[in-house]
Amino acid sequence: MERKAALITRPVLGIESSCDETAAAVLGPDGEILAELVLSQIADHAAFGGVVPEIAARAHLSALPALVQDALRQAGLGFSDLAAIAATAGPGLIGGLLVGSGYARGAAIAANLPYLAINHLEAHALTARLPGLTDEQPQFPYLLLLLSGGHCQCVAVEGVGRHRLLGATLDDAVGEAFDKTAKLLGLPYPGGPALEAAARTGDPQHFPLPRPLLRRPGCDFSFSGLKTAVAQLVAAQPPGPLPQAVAADIAASFQTAVTDILADRLENALALLPGAETIIIAGGVAANAAIRARLGDIATRRGKKLIAPPLRLCTDNAVMVAWAGIERLRAGLVDEISAPCRPRWPLEAL
Ligand code: KG4
Ligand code: ZN
Repeated sequence: MERKAALITRPVLGIESSCDETAAAVLGPDGEILAELVLSQIADHAAFGGVVPEIAARAHLSALPALVQDALRQAGLGFSDLAAIAATAGPGLIGGLLVGSGYARGAAIAANLPYLAINHLEAHALTARLPGLTDEQPQFPYLLLLLSGGHCQCVAVEGVGRHRLLGATLDDAVGEAFDKTAKLLGLPYPGGPALEAAARTGDPQHFPLPRPLLRRPGCDFSFSGLKTAVAQLVAAQPPGPLPQAVAADIAASFQTAVTDILADRLENALALLPGAETIIIAGGVAANAAIRARLGDIATRRGKKLIAPPLRLCTDNAVMVAWAGIERLRAGLVDEISAPCRPRWPLEAL
């Protein structure tokens, strides 16, 4: 694709609806946040212990139009003031993607604006470059560890639209492993924050748990063996509800095993991308204090900088979608209004 750098002089609207957050944001041409709204559907899905795609799509459909209007009102703008409309077009749940991108495309046609089909993973990858987030904007190439409920990847971010996958999970995403383990321990959904809280009072050495792929070459991840080991451990306990102290020890042992795995993979990734000065961690699991601290230690030891965007920008949001839109517009990249939604859309396919 031919690229011609472009100057952006008007704001960009971003829409996110790929999973269970409905979000809209308006960013000024330099990336300043003019409006930022997120509606979480956690309560809609909690009874089912996970995201139900059909419920998610319907919730996006009922919430999105008013949310976009609110975001524009907060920013004091109308559609005609915008430079472009950006929406997540994949990867994700197809129903939600169709709602968000369908809305964005309809509005783009009506207001005669360019449409930007944003890859959700690239949006996470570029968030760290949002002005004001760090003293200096991270320069390419940098290393991204994307640690969420749906994704677990290690990516060399080499430029806008230029990404190299260094490794990914062979089975469960790391957030999924937290959620499933939390469920085994009888903790509430979503399990990650509950498990971290339980782990605080536990002994991380109490139960020796496996660390799949540890000290193997490469940056792939695997968590299903660890989860199975926890399931067997729980099954081996005396019948009846798990005592709180035992649950805390298992939670702490699990969290430490995950942290060891992530640390080991990060070391390998840094060896594969020696030119990277910055490591970005993103996704809901990046909220975990034990994980942040351990990966931060590795970065410091290697003379690198670890950036963990604030939680609201680490988890799914529309600021990152609008910002990816600005980065792509600046790089001269826009999409056809007929650009499809892609439930599977690896970063290297950009
Ligand atoms: O990025 P995110 O909000 O949504 C996607 O999956 O795209 O990530 C949600 C995941 C869930 O699996 C949740 O349990 C996990 O992030 N999570 C955590 C923590 N907070 C959220 N995992 C571990 N420790 C946490 N403090
Ligand atoms: Zn995400």
